[in-house]
Amino acid sequence: MFIDSHAHLDSVDFDSDRALVIERARAAGVARVLAIGSGTGPGTLDCAIKLAERFEGLDASIGIHPHEARLTAEEDFRLLTELAGHPAVVAWGEIGLDFHYDHSPRDVQLEVFARQLKLAADRRLPVIIHTREAERETLRALQEHWTQPHIGGILHCYSGSLELAESGLAMGFLISFSGMLTFPKAQSVRDVAQRVPLERLLIETDAPYLAPVPHRGKRNEPAFVVETAKALAQLKETSMEVIGRQTAENYRRLFDRGYSRDPGRFTRDPVVQ
Ligand code: NI
Repeated sequence: MFIDSHAHLDSVDFDSDRALVIERARAAGVARVLAIGSGTGPGTLDCAIKLAERFEGLDASIGIHPHEARLTAEEDFRLLTELAGHPAVVAWGEIGLDFHYDHSPRDVQLEVFARQLKLAADRRLPVIIHTREAERETLRALQEHWTQPHIGGILHCYSGSLELAESGLAMGFLISFSGMLTFPKAQSVRDVAQRVPLERLLIETDAPYLAPVPHRGKRNEPAFVVETAKALAQLKETSMEVIGRQTAENYRRLFDRGYSRDPGRFTRDPVVQ
């Protein structure tokens, strides 16, 4: 039993066969998928909620990705706060900083990130963090604006330094690893994963991106999260089943804590068929 903690199921790449993709995930033992709601930015911020309303076994997030920070208007923050109250919403993200692509000016990324950290803290929702070539700035923003560290969050699709991972762990975050763990050249990612305690790990696909070996180069989908579990099992010298069970448990623990509206949600209904 596995949980994919991060998939962009709203992507147009899934428009032709979304129901089949979700069916295949279930068949592969993926009991739950967190549908990320960043969409294509403002105008699509309810995209994951719509999917969670339609398909069983999906949770939803909301949030503005750093790429689209420059498109954000004041009205969007009000809308996000409203959407945060929807029962399918378990997290705020993905939010953060991306100084690799710089699709939005850095000062705007910082401002939109800070605003969302504060709003998520107000709503008591865990945050899902995207950070690329901006480790120091991300850490500083978290220290300054994430006022509810006991709620926790996720450093997603982790490929950063051991230092950032350790700082994240100290701040109560879980570290989520993607199919990158299976890439031959990603030894540094495996090195960090090896150092993160099992009870602080999550697995994700980041579908439709970053398909793991042996699907590399194809469209990624939640069923493939088992390949990441397999890679992690090798690293930790344990079984895929243990990895699946423990990461699912970590997921529930995180969202039970943050999810104040219905704290029993995940313990009551761990596997939705
Ligand atoms: Ni993502």
